[in-house]
Amino acid sequence: MAKILEPNKDNISKAIAQLRDGFAIGMPTETVYGLAGDARNEKAIANIFATKGRPQFNPLISHISSFEMAYENGVFSPLAEKLAEHLWPGPFTIVVPRNPKSPVCDLACAGLETIALRYPKHEVALEIIKEFNAPIAAPSANISGRISPTNAQDVAIELGDRIAIIIDGGQCEIGLESTVVAVENDEITLLRKGFFTQSDIEKVLGKKIAIADAQQPDKPMSPGMLLRHYSPNAKVRLNSSHKQNGEIQIGFGNMDCDFNLSQDENLTEAAANLYKMLRMADAQNPQAIIIAPIPNNGLGEAINDRLQRAASN
Ligand code: TXA
Ligand code: MG
Repeated sequence: MAKILEPNKDNISKAIAQLRDGFAIGMPTETVYGLAGDARNEKAIANIFATKGRPQFNPLISHISSFEMAYENGVFSPLAEKLAEHLWPGPFTIVVPRNPKSPVCDLACAGLETIALRYPKHEVALEIIKEFNAPIAAPSANISGRISPTNAQDVAIELGDRIAIIIDGGQCEIGLESTVVAVENDEITLLRKGFFTQSDIEKVLGKKIAIADAQQPDKPMSPGMLLRHYSPNAKVRLNSSHKQNGEIQIGFGNMDCDFNLSQDENLTEAAANLYKMLRMADAQNPQAIIIAPIPNNGLGEAINDRLQRAASN
């Protein structure tokens, strides 16, 4: 079983040794916990795909700890640079053309000409990447298709039998995966909704951006967004306030329910609680998990995006 270790110097060294030996570890970030491995090492990356049961056509995000490291691995147009400078470090991933000098292996990028880069804003993640001194690939630390973990204990439940070390960075502050955008010269496309919304990004750029759309195959897509995802074992019913026998209710706002995402209708709090509460509800083996309506504005868009995937089958 994996050891959950506090993030002191000794334990960070142990984590680095695992990474250098080509093993994956559980790494905290401000969004969700990652299953982290050496992005340069084809074997380490193959091991991450196998551990998660993730299809190899779905590329991973390479995590970096400085702008310098970002520019060594990706080719940034002026607009990409603007986004990076405004939104990094933070819950934001930029897909750009790969820099020919990048040491990141082909498998991490699923053989694409592009690379997904993220400069996280979590003290422990940054310490690990800096100490490792190379890009770290880290998809969310869950079995592919299931709910992402937002604390070290949930990583242990999910993957504890497959990794040796989980570094404990506490409960994730944001609780939803990073916003992902693709930059192709002057064209910016939102590939995955997250903490930074379309309008946050448009404000930085001073112009409108496109939204990836499966119906329009000419637009860039994120391979990972086509799948059923974030799913509990139980059936999920959305926009529902009518609880039947054997069901568990996740609420929002001032209401009677089993778990409440945010009594005060605070979307930031709701995002931070979402995966944790989905997991707690699922652990009770209910007939179904029913979820109250969540307003579809601001961060609510990303929450509803994840809920729709959790409910699809
Ligand atoms: O918050 C996060 O981003 C977390 C934490 C651990 O950093 N990581 C994460 O990684 O969510 P993952 O692998 O679960 O999601 C990566 C997403 C997928 O939807 C993938 O398809 C997309 O980014 N992606 C990666 N490289 C891409 C590329 N070159 N082009 C388009 N999409 C890409
Ligand atoms: Mg994931």
